[in-house]
Amino acid sequence: MNYRHGYHAGNFADVVKHVVLVAILSHLKKKDTGFSVIDSHAGRGLYDLRDAAPQATGEAQGGIARLADIAAADGALGAYLDVVRECGSQRYPGSPLIAAKLLRPQDRLAAIEKHPDEAAILMDVLAPFRNAVTETGDGYGRMVKLVPPPSRRGLIVIDPPFEAVDEFEMLARAPGGGGAQIRQRDLSGLVSLSRKAPSTVLSAKCWQRAWPRP
Ligand SMILES: C[S@@+](CC[C@H](N)C(=O)[O-])C[C@H]1O[C@@H](n2cnc3c(N)ncnc32)[C@H](O)[C@@H]1O
Repeated sequence: MNYRHGYHAGNFADVVKHVVLVAILSHLKKKDTGFSVIDSHAGRGLYDLRDAAPQATGEAQGGIARLADIAAADGALGAYLDVVRECGSQRYPGSPLIAAKLLRPQDRLAAIEKHPDEAAILMDVLAPFRNAVTETGDGYGRMVKLVPPPSRRGLIVIDPPFEAVDEFEMLARAPGGGGAQIRQRDLSGLVSLSRKAPSTVLSAKCWQRAWPRP
């Protein structure tokens, strides 16, 4: 596991992915019933863009920095910018912190991160949120164990680093691909899968898929 998201935090793919995440969360919040978010590859949750890693690539300059002049925006983009700006200047929130900040008291977040150093930081970042838990471990295995949530409503965010040679096979076995394991466990919700498509300029594609009740 060499991948560290700090090198890419706040880049254009993060911006697209995180605006989509905010849009899905706001859709789920249209009902009062609580829901669960499972973030299978969570990262450290909060990135300081002045750190050596983001400075080394400068990727945030082509992402979040390009939105700096937008004073106000409607809908998901506006809500996303509010969350980012709440984190402070030169700081960029990862998917678990964005979700934690937008959840209501009746909603839950389980954020899973395999790298122990990243997971330790994530645990501190999510500590103020009483309805969020951090787990250190394998997101593919844990997400299946975490469903169905009590609410039977949920969102699974799968955002792997695509380092492993069999990552696509693991994805195919995960909910966005085959989905049999999750479907059998009766989760009615959405799956948001971020996929690196080798032949495209856009390095991350996000989509959501309605998850039918069996
Ligand atoms: C693309 S980053 C996640 C970024 C995060 N979703 C965000 O949007 O802020 C992928 C993360 O997955 C972690 N990771 C790698 N393999 C994993 C696995 N099998 N289970 C859980 N986390 C894993 C890496 O350490 C890395 O922090």
